[in-house]
Amino acid sequence: MSYAIEIKELKKFYKGAWAPALDGLSLSIQKNTSVGLLGPNGAGKSTCINILCGLVSPDSGTAKVFGRDCTTDKIYIRSQIGVVPQQIALFSNLTAWENFRYIGRLYGLDENTINKRAQNLLDRLGLDKHADKRVGRYSGGMKRRANIIASLLHEPEMVILDEPTAGVDVQSRTLILDFLKEYKQQGHTILYTSHYMEEAEQICDEVVIVDEGKFVISGSPRELVANTVDCKKLEDVFLHYTGHSLRD
Ligand SMILES: Nc1ncnc2c1ncn2[C@@H]1O[C@H](COP(=O)(O)OP(=O)(O)O)[C@@H](O)[C@H]1O
Ligand SMILES: [Mg+2]
Repeated sequence: MSYAIEIKELKKFYKGAWAPALDGLSLSIQKNTSVGLLGPNGAGKSTCINILCGLVSPDSGTAKVFGRDCTTDKIYIRSQIGVVPQQIALFSNLTAWENFRYIGRLYGLDENTINKRAQNLLDRLGLDKHADKRVGRYSGGMKRRANIIASLLHEPEMVILDEPTAGVDVQSRTLILDFLKEYKQQGHTILYTSHYMEEAEQICDEVVIVDEGKFVISGSPRELVANTVDCKKLEDVFLHYTGHSLRD
């Protein structure tokens, strides 16, 4: 089986931390699926994503994207994945267009290609009318949508999104989720993290629950609900496996 993502026994202990961020995490994700990486605060989701895109080095274990090692094949991996980080990664004093031209050039794209791709994405994500405004003046939902566009200009095979719908209004969220569904239907792989269980239930073929840096369980939302005692929805399954203690 060739996987989009294959992670084996990943360990990461940040300097000064009191517990490992990743404690032997293993998981695999098939191509052309949309997968939700779910876990309470501090479970290690962002660390896992940062390792996949080569921003953080693991202490041990392996992480592969399309069969290539994330720590050694960074250039190839960056060409294959679009990353939408948890924090907005755009220049707030530039307009959306200026951001896209700058980011597109970093990917080695020519002006024509950038314009064509960005225009298409601006239309699909409802930002066309605002593309000449400075990003600093955008609402939270607009910033998130612009962040998604920036990550897709190089037309990656897979997109990895870290809480793309956190703190956005219902309209923006619906648009983002519809866009992701469509993106997956075009043959892409999606990995995303979220705290919204109904959302994961709605768009994910599969969810992977992690906690304290370890794999807990994975499966389709429907399968997990059916196979876990006294669970009617994914949120029940999540609480069943991760408990009720606070993780502030
Ligand atoms: N740069 C860092 N330095 C020290 N500790 C970190 C750093 N980044 C994350 N952590 C810690 O690692 C654990 C996992 O964090 P993270 O991967 O951000 O989890 P999640 O995204 O699931 O909330 C947390 O306990 C967090 O405080
Ligand atoms: Mg996080």
